[in-house]
Amino acid sequence: MTWDVHHLPRADGRTVLVTGANAGIGYFVAQQLAGAGATVVLGCRSRAKAEAAMTAIRETHPEASLRFLPLDLGDLSALETDSLGTHLDAVVLNAGVLIEGQDPDDQAFAVNHLGHFALTALLAPHLSPGARIVTTGSFVAKTAKFSAHEHDGKRAYARSKLAQMLFGFELARRGVFSVVNHPGGALDSLTPPHRGGLQPQRLLLQGKDSGAWPAVRCVLDPDVRSGQLWGPRLFGLRGVPREEPVRGILADTELAAAVWEQSVELTGLDPSAALLRRQ
Ligand SMILES: NC(=O)c1ccc[n+]([C@@H]2O[C@H](COP(=O)([O-])OP(=O)(O)OC[C@H]3O[C@@H](n4cnc5c(N)ncnc54)[C@H](OP(=O)(O)O)[C@@H]3O)[C@@H](O)[C@H]2O)c1
Repeated sequence: MTWDVHHLPRADGRTVLVTGANAGIGYFVAQQLAGAGATVVLGCRSRAKAEAAMTAIRETHPEASLRFLPLDLGDLSALETDSLGTHLDAVVLNAGVLIEGQDPDDQAFAVNHLGHFALTALLAPHLSPGARIVTTGSFVAKTAKFSAHEHDGKRAYARSKLAQMLFGFELARRGVFSVVNHPGGALDSLTPPHRGGLQPQRLLLQGKDSGAWPAVRCVLDPDVRSGQLWGPRLFGLRGVPREEPVRGILADTELAAAVWEQSVELTGLDPSAALLRRQ
């Protein structure tokens, strides 16, 4: 199927939860899915920010069907999934933090990886059969290592993204419809601050609206298969989404299984067991 990021297939009647939908790439994922007719649930830790995002989406899509789910990936104890009130056809695990300062390793791992790992298990009763779990990774994960405790914020971030991507592929191996995507290099808050008017990285990278394209395709394209990796076409940094080979550390099944077991131990939850019980 030819994929046109500006003419998406209709998604009326489908409901998609997007984590971190109030800003950045998550905002544009929500906007593009809402424009295609999906009901979008914005999973955000700030109601005010989610409402501002919903107002902005309605400026371009006045008919958008939007809802808010209070969600803090750093503390899921207050999560009220019953307020969802409907089954989800897809979940985009998009929210992410890059922590500079004390304990970047524990914090980035807890929010980016463990938060989404636990959320997936907690959402199990609310997922439609065959619902897609779409995990957002990063190209920096390909060079990440788990060797020692990490004190550098960027390396800790890369390690947390690797854990997320290994989770997405392992979830697929365990029989759940799970796809991994990465946005390439999308300018703004997780990228270096702009200096002056000249932004040479604009030539190589892209805006967050385009960074949303791979995740949107993973939700909507009927030809996307579980276990696949999708990213931008040009050097994996920018452009329209295409499928990428899963290789190197991303294809390390022993590492993925070890990260999975450790995550079960740390969260007390097992997403694949919870999801497969439902099928
Ligand atoms: N930008 C890039 O170049 C790039 C490259 C590769 C991968 N990625 C990945 O793409 C995703 C989105 O990145 P982005 O650049 O759009 O980031 P961003 O602009 O910084 O937005 C991050 C989003 O995550 C939310 N979030 C942070 N901590 C949270 C928590 N504890 N609970 C719930 N939500 C939380 C933020 O909400 P608040 O507003 O409340 O903080 C915000 O909505 C991330 O997973 C990132 O790792 C980005």
